[in-house]
Amino acid sequence: MALPAAEILSASESGISRAATLLREGNLVSFPTETVYGLGADARSDQAVAAIYEAKGRPSFNPLIVHLADVELASEFAQMSEDAIQLANAFWPGALSLVVPLREGHGLSPLVTAGLPTVALRVPDQPAARALLKDFGGPVAAPSANPSGRISPTTAQHVIGGLGHLVSAILDAGPCRVGLESTIVGFQGGPTLLRPGGVSTEDIEAVLGQPLKVAQSGEITAPGQLVSHYAPNAAVRLNAKQARANELLLGFGDMDCDINLSPTGDLIEAAAGLFDALHRLDQSGRPIAVARIPDTGLGQAINDRLSRAAAPRNGA
Ligand code: TXA
Ligand code: MG
Repeated sequence: MALPAAEILSASESGISRAATLLREGNLVSFPTETVYGLGADARSDQAVAAIYEAKGRPSFNPLIVHLADVELASEFAQMSEDAIQLANAFWPGALSLVVPLREGHGLSPLVTAGLPTVALRVPDQPAARALLKDFGGPVAAPSANPSGRISPTTAQHVIGGLGHLVSAILDAGPCRVGLESTIVGFQGGPTLLRPGGVSTEDIEAVLGQPLKVAQSGEITAPGQLVSHYAPNAAVRLNAKQARANELLLGFGDMDCDINLSPTGDLIEAAAGLFDALHRLDQSGRPIAVARIPDTGLGQAINDRLSRAAAPRNGA
């Protein structure tokens, strides 16, 4: 028997209220954030969190980000160091996740942290997400709402395409503003960049007044750090000047191409459209060539995602 398709809810008061009710009943609800669409579940429920892993087909050693309605709630779940508080005050609500030590009596399902003594926290900056978190009244665990290893969703249609029959509902608030997952910073041995993302390293370093350390490779604490990730079905070739036979060209700046991430060379615009462009190009079944993207500001996160999309895949 086929599973029923997800309820598509609008980001109205009644849509948000329905989404919150479904979360309270232990269901999976996909909701928009400013970065990408999340696959949300009650972070205190083992069963609901297990359903996330099941739906994504995600290796269970990968811990999830816990989403909160307000900055003040962070200290209910974690020990916030001075550096963590400084970054939370500067960037929350926003596209930054902080990996901080769990606090005793936190009440989160151990599945959320995959047994680690730390938790990734984030207060998203998206009105529908914040309203949902507020109405729900608790912590929501949410990875990006894509099957594990595939391109992250930046529209409700992307979620329907990947997980449409595996979630109870999708809260649709249109395309995500930032378009790339949050930047992840940990604090073990000093502030450390675990994943580049929607907040640039430069902006974080300016607030901290010191450079971020970069996580050692080989130490996989984020699935975004697996070499092949965010992968379309098609082969991807980077730093292309033009398309070769049969390739489609994803461009940047003033150039002839099939989809241009930003004709004016604006990295914020390019980040916002990146995953949607990859989803679209991938539908053609043709190999994808991608123009060179500058490695500054959000370009660092764009290049991180592109190099993983282009990496050799393991198996099917
Ligand atoms: O923008 C985002 O961050 C989106 C939206 C939905 O908020 N979420 C997202 O989640 O990208 P996900 O699960 O695809 O990536 C979360 C990353 C994972 O790579 C995970 O390994 C890392 O956060 N993470 C979570 N808890 C951690 C911990 N305790 N230590 C180190 N890394 C952790
Ligand atoms: Mg993801």
